[in-house]
Amino acid sequence: MEHKTLYFENDMLKLIDQRILPLEIQYYTAETYQEVCEAIKKMVVRGAPAIGACGAYGYYLAVKQYIDEDKELFLEKMSSAKKELLATRPTAVNLGWGIKKIEKELKKEIKKDLDKKSILNNILKIADQIAEDDIKTNKKIGNFGNKLIEIGDNILTHCNAGALATVGYGTALGVIRAAHNSDKQIRVFMDETRPRLQGASLTAFEMKAENIPATLIVDNTAATLIRDKKIDKIVVGADRIAKNGDTANKIGTFMLSVLAKEYNVPFYVAAPISTIDFSIDNGSQIDIEIREDKEITEIRSVQIAPEDIDVYNPAFDVTPAENITAIITEKGIIRPPFIENINKLKSN
Ligand code: MRU
Repeated sequence: MEHKTLYFENDMLKLIDQRILPLEIQYYTAETYQEVCEAIKKMVVRGAPAIGACGAYGYYLAVKQYIDEDKELFLEKMSSAKKELLATRPTAVNLGWGIKKIEKELKKEIKKDLDKKSILNNILKIADQIAEDDIKTNKKIGNFGNKLIEIGDNILTHCNAGALATVGYGTALGVIRAAHNSDKQIRVFMDETRPRLQGASLTAFEMKAENIPATLIVDNTAATLIRDKKIDKIVVGADRIAKNGDTANKIGTFMLSVLAKEYNVPFYVAAPISTIDFSIDNGSQIDIEIREDKEITEIRSVQIAPEDIDVYNPAFDVTPAENITAIITEKGIIRPPFIENINKLKSN
């Protein structure tokens, strides 16, 4: 993509403002960890790997803000900064993964008794590495996933698991990019993805930018297309994958997986290993974020539902492992039995 999702320059985190895409291209600047928290909460930036990188840069900014305090106060401030960053979005495991990588490095640096400037330089290097590695990882996911795609496939995707949900290239859209670039003559069908419309505003934007043939549908059209054999494969991203393969992703993913199973359409999850939460056995342990009512009662600030109507707005759902054909990672394609094969990955 021509426009970067995020980059870090002169101690500032620059984020393409995804709330106003595709109408305007504007960058949001975060110079403090509090501004990073705000950007994640308000969804200036979203998508599990992208917020993973933001968590890392946010934690770095907090260290920079408090490093001149005495040790006790510094540790206290860092502990609350970590909590605040973690609380911004509870479902995507990558957020905590990014933060903890920097925290681990910080602890090492403190033990070495280095000067403050070196500590800051060294932890920033790790955050930059996370961002750089993300693009490499996604390209690997794309190449493995491409092996599953046949010439002329119609591929359905949900939400946005693209360059905009990562530091670049994307996971589910990484597979789609790789297939398109190897001339497989694919067509993408993207659900608009209510309530926040990431499919309509972000996936469609990415597909247009790269001339990848794509058709936008409302979420409710997917069932008809699947039944009528107009969809050959479904590829989605993930926010958290349990040890048994149960996968949390954007609300509506579960429904697609049920349709896929009913009509024998392969259902693939594309995600980096950092999205696997090795501390949980199954999807029932995943904390599902509930977002504000306005996301449903308003569309871009225009009210569309009666005042004070009761609303239920979970941002994610869990697709049971038995509905998933395979999980595409940077280390290869994982097939069932997932418990066994995911476990093997950990020890690799
Ligand atoms: O609420 P969002 O927009 O952050 O949800 C994003 C998704 O559900 C993506 O599919 C997931 O984070 C994977 S991104 C590569």
